[in-house]
Amino acid sequence: MSRTTIPDLYEKHEGGEPLTMLTAYDAPVARQVDAAGVDMILVGDSAGDNHLGYDDTLPVTLEEALSNTAAVVRGTEEAFVVADLPFLTYGTSMAESVENAGRFLKEAGADAVKLETAPYGETTIEIVDRLTELGVPVQGHVGLTPQRKNEIGGAYVQGRDTDTSSPGEALVETAQRLADAGAFSIVLETVSEGVAREVTEAVDVPTIGIGSGRYVDGQVLVVSDVLGLGGEEYSLAKQYADLDSEIRRAVEQYVEEVESGEFPTRDNAFDPVDEE
Ligand code: KIV
Repeated sequence: MSRTTIPDLYEKHEGGEPLTMLTAYDAPVARQVDAAGVDMILVGDSAGDNHLGYDDTLPVTLEEALSNTAAVVRGTEEAFVVADLPFLTYGTSMAESVENAGRFLKEAGADAVKLETAPYGETTIEIVDRLTELGVPVQGHVGLTPQRKNEIGGAYVQGRDTDTSSPGEALVETAQRLADAGAFSIVLETVSEGVAREVTEAVDVPTIGIGSGRYVDGQVLVVSDVLGLGGEEYSLAKQYADLDSEIRRAVEQYVEEVESGEFPTRDNAFDPVDEE
């Protein structure tokens, strides 16, 4: 079995099939997500609130993200692995951006990196241009950019006519510039459906939506939302399992059985001693 490549993703997209992407942050979940057949696994900085216990994505460090990515790569045989660059590990200078992004490919074994771009965000568009010229594939990300939460305040759905910070035409133009700079695909996060469709029609590379409706080229969700793991809900996601309840049930049963002496039994012992 070989790892999915960008030409494989393009072939599926050109055949008219939607692309599938889910996050994962560790090897056991990556193994299942991969075996279930997703095209791409995103080692998102959503690890911050979904895996590492932070309130949001901002505290995630480069070393934490590298470690999560390496674990996901070890658990993945087939899917294309995209590593999300954490807040301020890019953009401070071109040299630092390139070095940090490169570590995800060289040390952690990712296939590509992803970074967030503000409307008309020149700095990150230049970084995408440099990285792709050097051989580091980049997935763009426009719309809601959680790393800018302190800048954008409570703004949520992006691209609405009333949205002066991120109007629809800004999203279309930013996505076009990212594609021109070499991004192989662009994530659209929480963009109103009409604008997501306009962006998708305006760019040649596949768009991957999260909370951005139906007229995009693929979908991505946070795996914890899909699995019902971690106690948080995201209204635009769909929950397909309730692992929180399942984990709680199993652990309560374990505690009960240890306390009652039901576990362990003779079968759980090495060289069991026969009772007198
Ligand atoms: O970090 C993440 O999970 C993401 C997705 C929301 C696209 O960036």
